[in-house]
Amino acid sequence: MKTIVRQIEDIEKDYNAIELAGEHIRQGKLVAFPTETVYGLGANALDVDAIREIFRVKGRPMDNPLIVHIASVADLGKLVTNIPDIARKLIDRYWKGPLTLVLPRSSLVPREVTAGLDTVAIRMPSHPVAHALIRESGVPIAAPSANSSGRPSPTLARHVKEDLQGKIPLILDGGECSVGLESTVLDVSGDRAVILRPGGITKEMIEETIGDMEVDARVLNPPQAGDKLRAPGMKYTHYAPEAPVIIVEGNIANIPTKVKAMSKQHTLSGKKVAVLATEETKDEYIDEDLIVLIMGRRKCPSTIASNLFALLRQCDEEEVDIIIAEAVEESHEGLAIMNRMLRAAAFRVVDA
Ligand code: TXA
Ligand code: MG
Repeated sequence: MKTIVRQIEDIEKDYNAIELAGEHIRQGKLVAFPTETVYGLGANALDVDAIREIFRVKGRPMDNPLIVHIASVADLGKLVTNIPDIARKLIDRYWKGPLTLVLPRSSLVPREVTAGLDTVAIRMPSHPVAHALIRESGVPIAAPSANSSGRPSPTLARHVKEDLQGKIPLILDGGECSVGLESTVLDVSGDRAVILRPGGITKEMIEETIGDMEVDARVLNPPQAGDKLRAPGMKYTHYAPEAPVIIVEGNIANIPTKVKAMSKQHTLSGKKVAVLATEETKDEYIDEDLIVLIMGRRKCPSTIASNLFALLRQCDEEEVDIIIAEAVEESHEGLAIMNRMLRAAAFRVVDA
C-alpha cells in the first residue's frame, strides 16, 4: 500500500487534505492525524471492520481498548449511558484537551472498540487538525497512538512513517505535537474518580476541580500477577526503544555522579551510552564520553514531556547500546513522565 503524507500548515488553505481524510474515514480506511498529545491512528469508531484493521496494523493485542475521539460535547450523549456530575465538571473545565474520560458505554459503541468492557474511553482533542477531521468525517473516530504496538508514541509525522509506512493510506502532517505524552485517562464510571494513565491534565488539576480522587497503583508500579487491571493497556511493555533503559532516581545532588559511574562501566566495555539529562544537570556530563540528550527543564516538566518520546526514538537512530535516564519528580506532568519512563525501562530503577 502506498502511504500518502499531506502536510497541513493552514487548515483553511489545506482543507482539501482534511476532506480527503474525512472521505477515507467514512470509507472505513485508516488515517494517521496529529492531536495535541501524540499522533493518532484513526478509524470510524462505529465501523467494526475498520476497528479490526487498527488492531492489525499496530499489532495491538485485541484486549486493549481504544479511545473514541469526538468534536463536540453534544456527540457524547449517544456513546454513553450516564454522565456523572464529576464528569460534567471536568468536561466544562478541560475539554477540548488532553483528558480522556472512561464512562459507561452505550450499545452504539462496538465491543471491538472497548475490548468487551462495559465502559468506553472518550476524549475531545483540542488540535485544530484533529477537530476538523472529526467534524469532516461526521463520525466519532477511534484512535490509538499511531505507533507500532510497544514503540514510543509518535510526536512527529516522521515517527508515524517510521512505524506504519506502507500499512496505511494517509498521514496528515500537522507538525510537532505540543504535549508530547498521551492524554490523561480518568475513570469516572464508578463512585470515585481514578487516574488510570497520567497525562497533560495533571492529578493536581483534576483535584482542583473535583476534590478527592485516586491514582491507580499501576501508574508507578509494575502489574502484579493476578491483578485485575482497570486499564488493560498498562500490562503491556510500552514506549520501549531498542536499547535497554535504566532510570537513576534519588536526590538530585547525587544523580549525575551515579549516572557517570554507571556509564563509565558501560563505555569501558565498548558500549555506546546515551544519557537522558535535564537542563539543570547537563553540564555535569560535559567531559564524559557520552551521548547527552537534554529532555527539558526540571522546573517546567511539560518541556520534558514534550521531548521524551522523540528522544527515545533518537536513541534508536543513533544505535546506542544502553540508555541511562535521570528520574524526575513525580508531581504535575512529572507523574506522566515517570509513568512512561518506567515502562520504557521495564521498571529497572537504581538509587543514586
Ligand atoms: O492522547 C491520547 O490519548 C492518544 C491520542 C491519539 O488521542 N491516544 C492514545 O490511545 O494514547 P492508546 O490506544 O495508545 O491508549 C489508550 C489507553 C490504553 O491504556 C487503554 O487501555 C485505555 O486508554 N483505555 C481505553 N478504553 C478504556 C476503558 N474503557 N477502560 C479503561 N481504560 C481504557
Ligand atoms: Mg499507545
